[in-house]
Amino acid sequence: MAARNVLLFMCFMLCSIYVNCDILCEQGFCRGHINDDNQCSTPAPECAINNATHTGLWLPSPTICNCCSFCLPFYQLGQPCSLGGSGNGITIGRCGDGLTCDNSTRKCVRMKTKCHDAQDDYDARHARGETGSFENRPSCDEKGKFASFHCVPSQTCFCQSEDGERLFGEVLYTGRFMNMPCRCSRMAHKIQTLIAKDLPYPVFGMRCTADGNYNPVQCIENMCYCVNRITGERIPGHSVDLDTTHISELPCYDEKLDLFPKTEDSEPPYEYTTPCFNSVQERRDLIDKSIEEGYNVEYFSTFGSISCLPDGTFGRMTINSNGSKICVNERGEKLGNYEAPANTPQFNDMDCKCALSTTVMTSSNEPPRCCKNGNFRPIQCHRGTCRCVDSDGRQIGRESTDVTRLPCYTQDWRNC
Ligand SMILES: *[C@@H]1O[C@H](CO)[C@@H](O)[C@H](O)[C@H]1NC(C)=O
Ligand SMILES: *[C@@H]1O[C@H](CO)[C@@H](O)[C@H](O)[C@H]1NC(C)=O
Ligand SMILES: *[C@@H]1O[C@H](CO)[C@@H](O)[C@H](O)[C@H]1NC(C)=O
Repeated sequence: MAARNVLLFMCFMLCSIYVNCDILCEQGFCRGHINDDNQCSTPAPECAINNATHTGLWLPSPTICNCCSFCLPFYQLGQPCSLGGSGNGITIGRCGDGLTCDNSTRKCVRMKTKCHDAQDDYDARHARGETGSFENRPSCDEKGKFASFHCVPSQTCFCQSEDGERLFGEVLYTGRFMNMPCRCSRMAHKIQTLIAKDLPYPVFGMRCTADGNYNPVQCIENMCYCVNRITGERIPGHSVDLDTTHISELPCYDEKLDLFPKTEDSEPPYEYTTPCFNSVQERRDLIDKSIEEGYNVEYFSTFGSISCLPDGTFGRMTINSNGSKICVNERGEKLGNYEAPANTPQFNDMDCKCALSTTVMTSSNEPPRCCKNGNFRPIQCHRGTCRCVDSDGRQIGRESTDVTRLPCYTQDWRNC
């Protein structure tokens, strides 16, 4: 009996390491293993209740072959908690999402984060009646960081970083139950801020689409393959070698997502790239060559001027032959008549964010008002009420039917 238990224990250890343990944990094993002498303990009730005050997480049970169910209860705000670790006894649950165990009181308290502070600020203003009807309470994730996206009601939603910084990726707002995973966009941001600074040239292998998701086609050098659009994980199976095969042979290739398509009747080797990625590559080759030949290019200044957006484009602004800045779409085509002549404040502040939101909202009959340079006009009006907005079009403070009472009001508010 003891030998059998040791054997089972060893198998359990192995099963934990190799997920696939068909030898012992074959179908029907649990039925024989769990019997009157060897019963499962009753799981904590929280997972089954799952209401506002009682929640938990089903986990694989720490038993042989996961025969029993196991529920990790979440403690609510103010409930006692254990800090875990050695000497603290067995932790049977943990503080719920956004909560942490306070060192001194041993009770679950709200994590102190930037996002929670932003929520508290919103709540305090809301209680005083100072929030606007198009203002959204910030959403935080289970770690108290900013959610992956932020919505401006009836306008658009865009990706944001864990610190609440706006990132690449914007879609039309279609209602309260929006979801934007923005994993590609966040990955690009992380690489750019954490890694790229210390390297001689920008590295970003992944390509994102306009919504902040992964482009289904990803390439490493000349080999291209398919990935899951949300997670970016490689889908096993097809891949193509651009040295011999055109990208359109790849089953996940979508012509609509290819911003710079190359015709199929050209000769191999083919490419699947963008002008911005190409110019990075060119300079990279130049640096490599200079290192080989023994002279130094000051590479940090060489790259100061280029950074590609996560979709491989140069950006959404460009300078035309007259030296004016204009707003462009992902294919480099001019958007509207937005323009700012050189050496003007409009030129320096230009961000084209309103011009771009308007493009995302082509199907809407109430697009935002933009300035001549494509920025959001600081006062937006909607059916007789006006409100102040920030550079991303987010409402700041209460709206008013009397525009002169808005804090951002200026006499010339209609023109910008
Ligand atoms: C959740 O369920 C528990 C147990 O059924 C009950 O005591 C509690 O009042 C419920 N809480 C809410 C907010 O419904
Ligand atoms: C909690 O207490 C431990 C040891 O008493 C200390 O090392 C740790 O820094 C404390 N953490 C916080 C957040 O105060
Ligand atoms: C450049 O300026 C000229 C005259 O000032 C104007 O006619 C032309 O449309 C401008 N070109 C662009 C691309 O804006």
